[in-house]
Amino acid sequence: MRRYHIFLTTLCVVFFTACEKDNTENINVSKEYGEEYYAGGKAGTVFITSSFAYKQPVPAIDEDAALYKQFMRGERIADKSFVSDTSMGYSGLGPVYIRKSCIACHPSYGGRGHRVDKYDSNDSRCSYLLMVYDPASPTLALASKYFTGMTQTRAVAPFKAPINEDGIHIEWRTHVDEHGNKYEDGTPYSSGMPYEGTLIYPLVTIDQSAVLFNDFDMSKYTASIEATIGIYGTGLLDAISDEDLRDEYQRQQARGYCPGIIGADIDETGLNPYYPGKHPGRFTYLCTRATLDNGPGANAIWNITNVTRPDRSYHYITDEYAQVSAKDPDVQAALGKPEQEVYEYLMSKNLNSEMTTADYDAFMVWHRGLAVPAARDLDNPMVQQGKELFYEAGCTACHRPSWTTRADYKPLPALSNQKIYPYTDLLRHDLGLKEPGRVQVCRTTPLWGRGLTKIVSGHTDKMHDLRARNFEEAIVWHGGEALQAKEKFRAMPREDREALIKFLEAI
Ligand code: HEC
Ligand code: HEC
Repeated sequence: MRRYHIFLTTLCVVFFTACEKDNTENINVSKEYGEEYYAGGKAGTVFITSSFAYKQPVPAIDEDAALYKQFMRGERIADKSFVSDTSMGYSGLGPVYIRKSCIACHPSYGGRGHRVDKYDSNDSRCSYLLMVYDPASPTLALASKYFTGMTQTRAVAPFKAPINEDGIHIEWRTHVDEHGNKYEDGTPYSSGMPYEGTLIYPLVTIDQSAVLFNDFDMSKYTASIEATIGIYGTGLLDAISDEDLRDEYQRQQARGYCPGIIGADIDETGLNPYYPGKHPGRFTYLCTRATLDNGPGANAIWNITNVTRPDRSYHYITDEYAQVSAKDPDVQAALGKPEQEVYEYLMSKNLNSEMTTADYDAFMVWHRGLAVPAARDLDNPMVQQGKELFYEAGCTACHRPSWTTRADYKPLPALSNQKIYPYTDLLRHDLGLKEPGRVQVCRTTPLWGRGLTKIVSGHTDKMHDLRARNFEEAIVWHGGEALQAKEKFRAMPREDREALIKFLEAI
C-alpha cells in the first residue's frame, strides 16, 4: 500500500539509520528512468524495493479516492482469515476448505511460500496446493470423483477433512544431471552454497489411512505439490488481448523450434461481465484459467475457503464427499439432521451468500490493481551484459520480454495501452523435468519482480514446486525444449553466468 510506503520513506529520512534495511532509499525519484524500468508500463509500475514491493496499487487507484477505498477493502478480504462463525466478520469458512485466506499461500501476494518438508496448511511458510491424480491417464486426470481439483485437507467440525495432513509426506530426493551437476568449466552448481553440486526434487506420497474414503485406492493414484506464482501484475496480463496471445502462439508454431501450447478456450459467457464468450487459458501453470474475472483469484476467494457469494451459491465439494459426510453419525448428531438433509445441504445449488457482491467487487479492484515493482539497476554495465546474454542464450524464445496491453481494457481503463515487461509468452512448454508431477508442460513463469522475492519472502526458491533454491538452479533445471538455452548457460564463463543472473535479479 503506497501511502504507507511514502509514510515509511518519510520516517526513513527522519530516522535514517533505523530503517536502512528497508531499501526504499535506493530509489532516486528525481531520476529519468528508461522504458524498461517500467515493468508494468507507466500505468502499472511502482518504484519500490522494500518488503512491500508486491502489495502496491497501480497509480490510477492510488490517485482515485473511491477506487483506493475499494482497493483497501479488497486487500482486507484477501488478508483476513475467514471463520465459520457467522456472528463475526469474514464468515462462511467451510464446511471443507483448503486454507482460510489468500495470504496463507500468497505471502505479500507474490512473495511465494517457502520450500518445506511437511504439508502443513497451518504453517504460513507452506504455500503448496496438493493435487491427487491418475498417473496412468494421458492428461494426468485429477481424482475428481473423490477430491476437489485443489485438494481440501481441512474441515470445520463436525465435518472431517478428505485427507488428514499427518499422512501426507514430502520427500526431497537428490538428482544428478547428465553433467554431474557441473558447469562446463568444472565448477559445481551453486558453488559456495551449503548445498553446492546438488539438485533436489519432491516426491509426495499419501498414506491410505489418511484418506477419508474407504473405497479410494491411493496406490492407483499419485500426488504432487504446486507452489504459488504471484498475484501482482495479473491485471496487466489480463489486459493483453486474446488476439495478441493467439498471434504469439501462431508465431511460435511457424518458427520451427519450441512451439508453445496455448491454453484451451474457456467459455466465460455469464462469468465475465466485461468480455463474455470464449477466451484461451493464460493463468496458472497449466493455463487452466482465462480471464481474471473467472480467474484463479476470482475462484479462489470462493473455492479455497468455500465462502459462497451470489454468483457462487454452492459449495466447492465432491458428491462422494457429501455422501460420506451425510452418512457420518457425528455430522448428523451435530447438525441434528438425517442423512438426506445433510446431503442436500452440502450439494445445494441455492445456498445463502456469505460474501456480498460489494465485497467481491472490492476484492477484484484490489486483485486487478496490484502493481508491478519497477526494474532496478538496469543501467549497471554487468546487468546490461547479462541482458545481452539472456537474449543470446535464447531465453526470450519463451520468456518473451514485452507485450502491449489492449487499447480498451474495460475493467480498469488505466491499464490499457501499456508496454509491459513480464518475460513470459503465456504459453506452455515441456522442460523435460524429472518428476514434474502434473506440471510437465508448464506455462513460462513471468520473471518480472522475481529478484525481490528475497527481500519480500526471505528466500529465493523457484520453479513450480520450489525445487530450485536460487536462480542458478532454476536455469539448470531447464531441459527439454529449453535444453539448448541451459547448455548455453552451462558453457558460459563464470562472469557471464553471474551477469545473466544479475539481470534476472534486476528485472
Ligand atoms: C493453497 C494455497 C493457495 C491459496 C490459499 C491461494 N492460492 Fe492462488 N495460487 C496457488 C498456487 C499453488 C498457484 C499456482 C497454481 C497452479 O498453477 O496450479 C496459484 C495461482 C494464483 C494466481 C495465478 C497467477 C498466474 O500468474 O497465473 C492468482 C491470480 C492467484 N493464485 C490468486 C489467489 C487469490 C486472490 C487467492 C485468495 C482468494 C489465492 N490465490 C489463494 C495457491 C494458493
Ligand atoms: C522452452 C521455453 C523456455 C526457455 C527457452 C527458457 N525458459 Fe525459463 N522457464 C520456462 C518454463 C516453462 C518455466 C516454468 C518451469 C517450472 O516451474 O516448472 C521457466 C522458469 C524459469 C525460471 C523460474 C521462475 C520462477 O520464479 O519459478 C527462471 C529463473 C527462468 N525460467 C529463467 C530462464 C533463463 C535465464 C533462460 C535462458 C537461459 C530460460 N529460462 C529459458 C520456459 C523456458
